[in-house]
Amino acid sequence: MEQILDLISKYVSEAFGMAGYDADLGKVTLSNRPDLCEYQCNGAMAGAKRYHKAPLMIAQDVADILDGCDAFESVQAAAPGFLNLKLSGGLLSGFLNGMKEDERLGVPETGGNKTVIIDYGGANVAKPLHVGHLRSAVIGESVKRILRFLGYDTIGDVHLGDWGLQMGLIIAQLRCEKPELPYFDDAFEGEYPKEAPFTISELEKIYPEASKRSKEDEEFRQEALKATGQLQHGHRGYHAIWQHILDVSIADLKKNYDSLNVSFELWKKESDAQPYIPDLVDYLKREGYAHLDQGALVVDVAQDSDTKKIPPCMILKSDGASLYNTTDLATIVMRMENWKPDQIIYVVDKRQDLYFTQVFRCARKAKLVEEDTGLTFLGFGTMNGRDGKPFKTRDGGVIRLEDLITDINQEMLRKILENHETDPGEAEETARIVALSAIKYGDLSNQASKDYIFDTDKFTSFEGNTGPYILYTIVRIKSILRRYLEENGKTWEETGALDILPPAGDAEKALGLTLTAFAPAVLQAGEELAPHKICGYIYELANQFNRFYHETKILTEPAEAQRNSYIALLALTLRVLECGIDLLGFTAPEKM
Ligand code: ARG
Repeated sequence: MEQILDLISKYVSEAFGMAGYDADLGKVTLSNRPDLCEYQCNGAMAGAKRYHKAPLMIAQDVADILDGCDAFESVQAAAPGFLNLKLSGGLLSGFLNGMKEDERLGVPETGGNKTVIIDYGGANVAKPLHVGHLRSAVIGESVKRILRFLGYDTIGDVHLGDWGLQMGLIIAQLRCEKPELPYFDDAFEGEYPKEAPFTISELEKIYPEASKRSKEDEEFRQEALKATGQLQHGHRGYHAIWQHILDVSIADLKKNYDSLNVSFELWKKESDAQPYIPDLVDYLKREGYAHLDQGALVVDVAQDSDTKKIPPCMILKSDGASLYNTTDLATIVMRMENWKPDQIIYVVDKRQDLYFTQVFRCARKAKLVEEDTGLTFLGFGTMNGRDGKPFKTRDGGVIRLEDLITDINQEMLRKILENHETDPGEAEETARIVALSAIKYGDLSNQASKDYIFDTDKFTSFEGNTGPYILYTIVRIKSILRRYLEENGKTWEETGALDILPPAGDAEKALGLTLTAFAPAVLQAGEELAPHKICGYIYELANQFNRFYHETKILTEPAEAQRNSYIALLALTLRVLECGIDLLGFTAPEKM
């Protein structure tokens, strides 16, 4: 389906041509002065040089031709040479009816089946998910959905951290607590138990204890480091423990991500990249990309144009151990081999910016990716508490994501019960749905790279720029539509056949114009990897709808065709809002 601006530009271009000017001058944009007009064309200004003529005269020539054209309600030439345009109701309703017929709601598929891997989530096994991982999950999921809707082949990879010191810490701690386990008996040759020697809640206790202890007890730290090394070199018993940790932890992570409505196509882990490391290291040495620097193997990635120092990318430490870098480079090799992505997007805390600059430069320099493979760092800011400091529990600890979600669920349940709209049997499920919108929208409505304040009162409010407000608007539309169907004995499918008529009033026109801006909003969000553009758009749409709703008698409109047209407009608004929240990664309840 054609974009609204292209459609309008066609009329204006044709008029430029008919007035004796180049048609390419007829490009139309949204108005900078919504108080004066809806759209504008600045082509006459560009034409002034070409034709040595006052721009206002050119604009007037074009306006004269467009006068009476049924695409416009008004066309005005304004000093110094603008064309100020207002769309005709007929063109608008025609466009909206087209959108209504299109299952994509007028959004073109621009992805051309290009493959994009989105590296997000990034949880570390054995450590409980904390709020830092929330942003990656929420933003990454939305970016993936936006790109998928635009026709990209998207692959989300959770890229679990399972290869670092945390594993050695748990092994060392477990050995202190339960030395009798067969994993610690070097003489043991039998089969290790299938059942893990800990539950998820035990595991979640072991790690913080071990981590704390390693900071106070150097000997213990050394043991943990050694155990990490042994695990990485294939120690049989430790490998079995590691497998238990993965099994227990991944099951729990899946549950947590599920409750966030976040899912991954790939559950790859840092450990999956390890088999690629030996060949990678050989290759980097053989091709002369890497060199030794004080015993460590490094690749220089500084460039002349750098304004700050970019240190070399370290591949192996002087003791031969690989690093987080090495794993990421090996992961790139693995991804290129298996999925040949056109782009890889990393949704990671922006404090890892420099790190990813090094990794990307190293990958390019060593030709681990194709020249045109995009490597994109989508860094996000910190989620802060109301005091402006990183979000903490009351006693200063790291807040667990599960607890945060439970808190918001309860707050939402309280509000929903207060409202008395939902029957109490459904209130909990409804609260869960609305709470998720509060959390996700609260995050996504900010530009990802900025820090933001997690403000429970604000995020759970039914008013203002919040998830619950959007859902409230959706629920309102659904309820009107339900009443309409009941009163008119129609089915939902039958509303699809209803025609949208030219707008009868200002608020209705404003709503219609906002609907036409859906496709550009999604396209822009995709180009800029910016879910906040979707939020901005659906907030505007919800506002325009509510304004229309307050000014219009919808169900009691006596003229049937007009009433039906309102209903068709509502149904379209509902579809656009629901598509919008789906791109953000949440859903709406029936009532709230
Ligand atoms: N596990 C890492 C962390 O918690 C994030 C992983 C990000 N992705 C990557 N490919 N390095 O910080």
